[in-house]
Amino acid sequence: MTENETSPTFWDELTSPINLILVFFILYLLYKIIKSHLETSGPATPPPPPMAKLRKDMTVAELKKYDGSDEEGRVLLAVNGIIFDVTKGKRFYGPGGPYAAFAGKDATRGLATGEVAASDKEYDDVSDLSPDEVASAKEWEEQFKEKYDIVGRLLKPGETPNKYDDEVSEHKNEKKNEDKKAQ
Ligand code: HEM
Repeated sequence: MTENETSPTFWDELTSPINLILVFFILYLLYKIIKSHLETSGPATPPPPPMAKLRKDMTVAELKKYDGSDEEGRVLLAVNGIIFDVTKGKRFYGPGGPYAAFAGKDATRGLATGEVAASDKEYDDVSDLSPDEVASAKEWEEQFKEKYDIVGRLLKPGETPNKYDDEVSEHKNEKKNEDKKAQ
C-alpha cells in the first residue's frame, strides 16, 4: 500500500459489487418473508360449522359408509365393540391418510396386532387374540375415549340397537357422561 492510498471506508466496503449483490439479495428475502406473512395473516377462512353429534349403534355393514369419503366427511371406527367418531383425526383416518384402512371398520384386530388393516367380515370375532394383543387393543380404546366422542356399540349379528334420545345433537361434548354408559 502506498502513502496516498487510504484504507476503504465502511461505505466503500458496502458498495463493493459483491456486497451490493448480497444486500439486494437480503432485501429481496426480507420482502418475500414480509409478503408471505401479510398473505397468511389476512382474513382467515371461517371454520366449518361443527358436525352434528351422532349417537347410534351400528352393524359392521352400517359402519362401512363412514370412511370420510362422502360429502359429510364423517369418519367412524370401532375398537372393542365401541364406535368412535374420529372425524377430528381425519388426517390419520381420512381418505389417503396413513390409517385410512381403519376408517368405517372394526379396527380392533389391526390395532391389537399392529397391522394397519381391518377385517371385511360381517363381524370379526377377536376371541383368538393373545393377552398382549387384548391389552394393546384396550390401550387404544382408552386413548380413543380420551380423545374422541363415542357414537355407540358395534352390533354383533342378531343384536338390536339401543335407542338414544340424542341420536343427532348439535351440542358436542354435552353428554359426555352419557357416552360412557353406552359401552
Ligand atoms: C413405524 C411405525 C409407526 C410410526 C413411526 C407411527 C407414527 C405415528 C405418528 C407420528 C402418529 C401421530 C401421533 C399424533 O400426532 O398424535 C401416529 C398416529 C397413529 N398411529 Fe402410528 N406409527 C407407526 C405404526 C403404527 C401401527 C403399527 C399402528 C397400528 C396398527 C399405528 C396406529 C396409529 C393410529 C391409530 C394413530 C392415530 C391415533 C389418533 O387417532 O390419535 N401406528 N402414528
